[in-house]
Amino acid sequence: MNPWAKHLEENIGEVLFDEATIAKRVQEMAQQINADYQPLNIEELVVIGVLRGSVVFMSDLIRQLQLPLTIDFIAISSYAKGTRTSGTVRILKDISESITDKHVLIIEDIVDTGLTLQCLTDLLQARRPKSLRLCTLLDKPSRRMVDLTPDYRGFEIPDDFVVGYGLDYAGHYRQVPYIGVLKPEAYQ
Ligand code: IMP
Repeated sequence: MNPWAKHLEENIGEVLFDEATIAKRVQEMAQQINADYQPLNIEELVVIGVLRGSVVFMSDLIRQLQLPLTIDFIAISSYAKGTRTSGTVRILKDISESITDKHVLIIEDIVDTGLTLQCLTDLLQARRPKSLRLCTLLDKPSRRMVDLTPDYRGFEIPDDFVVGYGLDYAGHYRQVPYIGVLKPEAYQ
């Protein structure tokens, strides 16, 4: 076994979603998005990925969207209060194009307390898009602190810390093709 495979075996516990399960769900989500937007005959859907966790999911999802679309990215940092996000976000890298009067779909990896995303949607709503919807691969509703319901959601998960398929711990594990629970020993 190579050292990386051994590291994963030691640090990742339960595999919540394997590659095939993720691929099937992403396909279903794309079908739903296609079905919702195609009848609107829109000129352009601006798909905004929240860096960096959303990139793996976003690249798989957009290849199945049969709509005229452009992509953009935003990077934010949330001011942490202890282990929780405070709900105040700072833009580290803004989107490159105006979204005023455009249809916008935000792509996130995971919604936890919802504070980060609520602040981000408020920021983007202030730029007066024609519509703004939220798509997340994972959702931890048990941790929600604000009234925020994603329009599209891949999987609901329990309150475990997960990595893989774009999700990280201290910047690592994003390239892992499945989603697994990081063992508490790995970060405590
Ligand atoms: P929220 O403001 O609490 O909803 O924070 C959401 C952000 O926290 C996500 O965009 C992730 O970056 C991070 N996060 C929350 N839970 C996890 C997890 O289980 N694994 C990796 N990152 C997570």
